[in-house]
Amino acid sequence: MNKSALIISGSSDIASATARLLAEKEYSITLTSRKTQSCKDLVKEISDTSSKNCFLIPLDIRDFDSFDNFFSNLKESPDLVLFCPGKMESDELISSKNRGHFSQEINDIVATNFSGPIIFLSKLKDYLVNSDKKASIIILSSVAGDRGRLKNPFYGSSKAGLSSFSSSIRQELGKSKISVITVKLGFVRTKMTNHLNLPKFITSSPEQIAKIIYQAHKKKKNVVYSKFWFSIMTIVKLIPEFIFKRMNF
Ligand SMILES: NC(=O)c1ccc[n+]([C@@H]2O[C@H](COP(=O)([O-])OP(=O)(O)OC[C@H]3O[C@@H](n4cnc5c(N)ncnc54)[C@H](OP(=O)(O)O)[C@@H]3O)[C@@H](O)[C@H]2O)c1
Repeated sequence: MNKSALIISGSSDIASATARLLAEKEYSITLTSRKTQSCKDLVKEISDTSSKNCFLIPLDIRDFDSFDNFFSNLKESPDLVLFCPGKMESDELISSKNRGHFSQEINDIVATNFSGPIIFLSKLKDYLVNSDKKASIIILSSVAGDRGRLKNPFYGSSKAGLSSFSSSIRQELGKSKISVITVKLGFVRTKMTNHLNLPKFITSSPEQIAKIIYQAHKKKKNVVYSKFWFSIMTIVKLIPEFIFKRMNF
């Protein structure tokens, strides 16, 4: 049977690793990107190495007005949708004593991690329900959304909103043919984190995450964490607020 995957933000390192894995598993792939040039090599690589098609569609997740057109131009209803857009705070914003002055960057983080995604995912849900096909929606969120921290208040709170929204649509679609899977990632070595000194032991590669994503889809999981992050976050969430507020991480 022909299987197809729609990967939102194909230029993400995790998206690219997952696209390669899915192409090996005989999925035809549609990638989206706001800078289509950045995905051209991946499209060529997948088209050259697999027997399946690979397409590229432009999409900026902040451009709400383009979403209806996006869905009406989709060639086929996918079996799997991987949702990858994400934006972290700049070092300047994190280190600033006047974070409120960065309103444009804060707005952009919220539009990329939360408001754009929840509008897009609402339309995706309607589209998949109407196509009446079995499918998985896999949403990349972050452990940063599990408890607000000093180091990434805007990224963390927008990912918290995204995790909460994915829980809502999972419940709404609970009796349907559509699985909604939230992948809560800890550290992963990608473009997003290459300026950080990440501890090896608890850091995953994009290829390891691709396998987690594929298994979560096959087993119709609800929420999955990478590496040891479920245990780490269980402990972090248990720290009483009067101690947590004095910690500096
Ligand atoms: N790496 C980690 O440690 C980590 C941890 C927790 C969660 N995550 C999440 O995992 C997902 C993938 O990130 P990654 O680690 O693979 O990093 P990445 O390689 O930097 O990917 C980030 C992706 O977000 C896309 N993006 C940014 N703004 C966008 C917009 N306005 N519209 C559409 N796409 C946009 C980027 O596209 P462009 O190429 O066009 O900029 C890129 O494809 C993100 O949601 C991230 O928050 C990552």
